[in-house]
This record gives sequence, C-alpha cells and structure tokens, in this order.
Amino acid sequence: MIKKCLFPVAGYGTRFLPATKSMPKEMLPVVNKPLVQYGVEEAIQAGMNQMAMVTGRGKRAITDHFDISYELEHQIAGSTKENYLASIREVIDQASFTMTRQREMKGLGHAILTGETLIGNEPFGVVLSDDLCINDGDGVLAQMVKLYKQFRCSIIAIQEVPNDQTEKYGIIAGEALKEGLYRVDDMVEKPKPEDAPSNMAIIGRYILTPDIFDILRETPPGKGGEIQLTDALLTQAQNGCVMAYAFKGRRFDCGSVDGFVEATNYVYENVYQEV
Ligand code: UTP
Repeated sequence: MIKKCLFPVAGYGTRFLPATKSMPKEMLPVVNKPLVQYGVEEAIQAGMNQMAMVTGRGKRAITDHFDISYELEHQIAGSTKENYLASIREVIDQASFTMTRQREMKGLGHAILTGETLIGNEPFGVVLSDDLCINDGDGVLAQMVKLYKQFRCSIIAIQEVPNDQTEKYGIIAGEALKEGLYRVDDMVEKPKPEDAPSNMAIIGRYILTPDIFDILRETPPGKGGEIQLTDALLTQAQNGCVMAYAFKGRRFDCGSVDGFVEATNYVYENVYQEV
C-alpha cells in the first residue's frame, strides 16, 4: 500500500568529523553494513520498494552503493568472496533507487520538501538512517504501516527518553488511545527539560501523508533557523490527525559516537552473521 520511502541523507554529519569529511555519515558501517542499508532493508521489510533519497554534495558513495560495481563484481565472480555481496545484491534486486539533491542544508523539513518531486501525491515512509532500529519481529516501519492502514493519517515513531535528554529531540504530548498509541496535540523541537510537554521523543521513522508538502511550503524557519519537520507536523496535527506510536524494538542513535559504538557492539553480538 505504501510503496515509497524517503531517505533524507544530505546532512553534514559534523559529529563524526573527520570521518565524514569526504564520506557520507550514512555510509559508516555498523560491523559490515552501512547505516543506510539497514534503513533500506527495514523499508523493504515493510513492503516498500521505491527508495527516494535526498542527497547532497559529497554523497555519491550512497548512490554507488545501491548500484552494480562491475569491476569489483567481475573480479570476485565465481569465488567464495561473492557471498559477501549477497545482502546488497538482494536489496538492489528488490527496490528501485531515485535521487535528488538538497542544494542548501536548510533542515529536515526542507530536505523532506525537496523530496516531493520523488514522492508525488501519496503517503510515504521516512527513514533517518542514523537512527538504527532493530527488532526480532516486524521492523519499526512495518509496525507503523499496519497502524497507517487503520488510521490513514501521519504516524510518528516515539520513544521515552530520560527527562534530562529532551533537548536532543522533538517531544510530543497527546491523548493516549491505548497503550503506546497517542493522538498528538502538542509537539516541541528540542525543548529544555522544564519546557518539555512530556518525555516522549520523536525518533527517525515516520509515515507521512502528502499534505505535509503544502504545510512545509508554508512553514517558516524555526529552531536553529532551519525548517523543522516538527513544526509542520504540529500544524498537521492541529488541522487533522497525527498519531504517535511507541514502537517495539531497540533503537540506537548512530548520529552520536556513544550510540554508534553501542550499536556496533549490539549488532556484532546479536545480529551479525559471518559469511
Ligand atoms: P541531523 O541534524 O541529525 O544530521 O539530521 P546531521 O546534520 O547530518 O548531523 P550533525 O548534527 O551535523 O552531526 C537528521 C537527519 O536529517 C538529514 C540528515 O542527513 C539526517 O539524516 N538532514 C538534515 C538533511 O537531509 N538535510 C538537512 O538540511 C538537515
């Protein structure tokens, strides 16, 4: 039902400099797989097969990753080393990849609006690949697609965070419909703990309805002078309905060094399988 998934991958990744000086942050490997590939695999598991990437300068490695590498593949054809390519070949076979460029980094909301040309007028998934989500059963996006089928409105993934960490996230408040599911009535980008309406933080998975594009076009720059997706989602919630869902599974903030190291250890011990 939802076929397209948008990946805003244009950010600078300054917290990982110098590693990200000439390499996209989304290509940092957690064990043997780049972050963005985990995100694409999660989208495929949720039934999506058209990946739309909003890239920027210096991000060509992402485009190349989701293409054939003739020279390399020719070199290792017929050898056991070919097995190392199995996971990425499977991904490339199952999905198409289109790219557009965000010329200026004006924030996540602006990156999503830049992706409109790839999405058009249909509901779509969004993955911020620096949030790595792992779950034994359905992945987070697959859980959210099920909810979309029921409610037909934008769905955002949330997670409770310690009170002293609200300044790192968009924070929601809302009416609980059942355990772990809220109808959003307030949303604030990176509030101080004393200003936060709750400790329920938005993490990098969304299902968005396409009216978000018109709202984003009218959304003025907010916190940090950037066009904030959170501000547009609040308008959407006030005009209609936005649901927040406390997903099942683990999430690692791989945009920070601590989260990245934690994810690496977890994946090595629990997920990674030697080829
Ligand atoms: P972040 O602020 O976490 O990413 O944006 P960043 O700017 O790359 O990281 P630091 O803070 O400099 O280390 C969240 C997501 O939104 C994308 C980023 O690529 C990331 O996936 N993004 C952000 C864009 O695509 N464009 C923007 O203008 C801003």
